[in-house]
Amino acid sequence: MRANPIGVFDSGVGGLNVLRKCAELMPDEKFIYLADEARMPYGVKPAAEIRLAALQSAERLFSMNCKALVVACNTATVTAIDDIRALFSTRPVIGLEPAVKPCYRELGKSGRAVALVTAATYNSAKFARLVETCDGKIIPLAVPELAKLIEDHTDDIRAIAPFVRDVLAPYKNAEAVILGCSHYTYIADLIREAYDGDVKIYDGATGAAERLRYCLAISDLTAPIGVGGGIRFYSTYVRDV
Ligand code: DGL
Repeated sequence: MRANPIGVFDSGVGGLNVLRKCAELMPDEKFIYLADEARMPYGVKPAAEIRLAALQSAERLFSMNCKALVVACNTATVTAIDDIRALFSTRPVIGLEPAVKPCYRELGKSGRAVALVTAATYNSAKFARLVETCDGKIIPLAVPELAKLIEDHTDDIRAIAPFVRDVLAPYKNAEAVILGCSHYTYIADLIREAYDGDVKIYDGATGAAERLRYCLAISDLTAPIGVGGGIRFYSTYVRDV
């Protein structure tokens, strides 16, 4: 079992940022990445649809003998991680949470931060509870069209710079921006530019990778050293030919 792969999924390319962190931290592990591109974007769908999609991705990865699962998507995590854990209770399941807590801890006395999220994350009880614990210092901001815009512009990300600037314009005084969707890592530089470099950016990917390493270790599932890691990629997208 220790040599088995780790499943990682997202609705599209966003989770690749989480996968990269995991692979860098655990080079001996094998990963299987599943992009649910046929159903992307998750963030504008009803919770029941997101839950079904996430459960099907989890099922597919566990049926490929994955020893653990990373839900590399904030939207799927807030919506479905409890259901995934209930169904696959014998395997570690790691979620991706917006880095609200670390950001809140590090904010200056009168500092404020914007948490950029999808509409589904914004509307979820889990995210609302997380924000509630932060004395009004974290301003949640749903940008429903952003994940799909990023998915469609990974090759020419600069094309969406004006959109990003406009979204953040009302929050000029923010000290930090929290990337509450794994797709948003692709626009970290555009966000910095929108603040002329004067902003801190918080991403949950490193935290998820560290959590995975810890969960593997305590479950005695860490891959043997020297066998060789690797990554396989799958997508649910079927092209018409
Ligand atoms: N990457 C996903 C997240 O972290 C959402 C993207 C989508 O809406 O499909 O929330």
